[in-house]
Amino acid sequence: MRDRAWQADPMTTDHDHRYDVLIIGSGAAGLSLALRLPTSIRVGIIAKSRLSEGNTYYAQGGISAVLDESDSLDAHIADTLDAGAGLCDEATVALVVNKGPENIQWLLDEGVSFTRGRDPGSGYHLTREGGHSHRRVVHAADATGKAVETTLEQQVMARDNVSLFENHNAVDLIIGDRDRPGDKHCLGAYVLNKASGHVETFTARFTVLATGGASKVYLYTSNPDVSTGDGIAMAWRAGARVANMEFIQFHPTCLYHPHAKSFLISEALRGEGGRLLLPDGTRFMPAFDQRAELAPRDIVARAIDHEMKRLGADCVYLDISHKPAEFIREHFPTIHAKCLEFGIDITREPIPVVPAAHYTCGGVMTDRNARTDIPRLFAIGETAYTGLHGANRMASNSLLECLVFAQQAAQEIQRELPTTPAPEEVPDWDESRVTNSDEEVVVAHNWEELRRFMWDYVGIVRSNKRLERAKRRIVLLKQEIRDYYSNFRVHNDLLELRNLVEVAGLIIRSARHRRESRGLHYTLDFPRRDDRFQRQPTVLMPDNFDPASVPTDP
Ligand code: FAD
Ligand code: SIN
Repeated sequence: MRDRAWQADPMTTDHDHRYDVLIIGSGAAGLSLALRLPTSIRVGIIAKSRLSEGNTYYAQGGISAVLDESDSLDAHIADTLDAGAGLCDEATVALVVNKGPENIQWLLDEGVSFTRGRDPGSGYHLTREGGHSHRRVVHAADATGKAVETTLEQQVMARDNVSLFENHNAVDLIIGDRDRPGDKHCLGAYVLNKASGHVETFTARFTVLATGGASKVYLYTSNPDVSTGDGIAMAWRAGARVANMEFIQFHPTCLYHPHAKSFLISEALRGEGGRLLLPDGTRFMPAFDQRAELAPRDIVARAIDHEMKRLGADCVYLDISHKPAEFIREHFPTIHAKCLEFGIDITREPIPVVPAAHYTCGGVMTDRNARTDIPRLFAIGETAYTGLHGANRMASNSLLECLVFAQQAAQEIQRELPTTPAPEEVPDWDESRVTNSDEEVVVAHNWEELRRFMWDYVGIVRSNKRLERAKRRIVLLKQEIRDYYSNFRVHNDLLELRNLVEVAGLIIRSARHRRESRGLHYTLDFPRRDDRFQRQPTVLMPDNFDPASVPTDP
């Protein structure tokens, strides 16, 4: 057994990598931050897989911002608050919405090209998605994320001050003076180099978690494999609070096909007139909400879940074939091509769809400068809880949040840099008392078990009994994984499983705490919203939380 808890002491060892800013994650959040920092600052970016692999690359619908003359910032704010069901932080919403237009301009300046259209205000085609009262989603056809990610990657690669590390998996944060009240701070991270199998030490004046969401905790998800909640788990273990973890967004429409893995059918398809149908061809959304197919996601996903369970159906259908074929091919080229691969021609027939876990609304608590509870540790993007989304994220607000909080973090880091010393020396990772595993099956089995019971018991519709069952299983899994982790050499699947189990535990705890139904959290035992929970996020505090270390506002 080994103890990986580490305390700053005078012991000196060689560092592998030293930076001013270490960014863990290379999606929209991480890359924008790197580009927002001046070239005089040394930046290290690590990514668990290829640079482009993350939720950002797969984003389809677009980015919301007020660009049309008939739209207004107030309307965008009101829609976001409405979708968030009484749990948004209003100051955060105002900050993000107000900074929307300038961040779209920033992306344009970096070279992202969006679909042009006849909108007189912006010159761009603005689409609509659920919850938005106006057309305000700027997009690059139906592959917005790919356009953003690849452009930002090119820009980052051209920067001499940025070092990029693909296939490097951050294991844990390095925390200094963890036992001296008020002195706790982040010094970097231990990182598994997946090619060599060794854990390396990365130190930095500032460490930024930009690790994305945790939807892989569920059996069915729109997310790629890297979305295992690592940043949330690492921050929690290091002593930072997390909030609103019960609010997992299920996207209503992922392609239902035995060979399609995680393929999303964008909400923009409904924004452009797509209708949801039962297997017999009946339209059902108007019976659930007057906004029909364009109601916020929680409502649409729950309606689909309800109808599938009522009819014992494997899926429902999304139909846009009443629109001209040319329009469909022009606006949804990626979806059209992908569906054709599976023998579905969306210009002529409806698409079989099911809901799947899509977005983690909660995460590491930050202030409006992206600072976490631990000095010198920031969190941005989907891994963070900023208060923007409340109980339900409105479509296309997430990429915007990545951009705005990268901008905020860049400003704060530059403000703090002159007074922040280089990190102390830290000991290297200790592998002396571990061996290679002889029971890999434990990891594979536990991955499967965890994701299945999270889907069955902590999914779109919850109940006290289901959450209790899930809690009992998590206790067992945690124990098993802790033993395994302590005895065997770490590898990617084990690290991800360890984090998934941690995050699943946080989701279950938060869901049990919320004794009402609100936004994305729906429970049969408390089916109504309870006003006593209005404006009350669910905040979880780890045992090693140090209130004296929490950064105060400048
Ligand atoms: P990501 O883009 O997920 O990047 C995470 C990064 O962290 C990756 O580089 C990963 O390798 C790295 N990482 C993770 N763990 C570790 C670790 N332990 N060590 C090292 N690196 C690590 N939002 C919108 O606003 N509009 C949309 O149209 C839209 N469409 C979407 C469509 C799909 C299919 C999906 C899945 C999401 C969509 N979203 C959309 C949500 C949005 O894409 C994400 O919330 C956003 O891209 C998150 O960006 P990020 O930078 O926080 O994380
Ligand atoms: C979509 O295109 O439907 C996804 C948009 C989002 O998740 O914001």
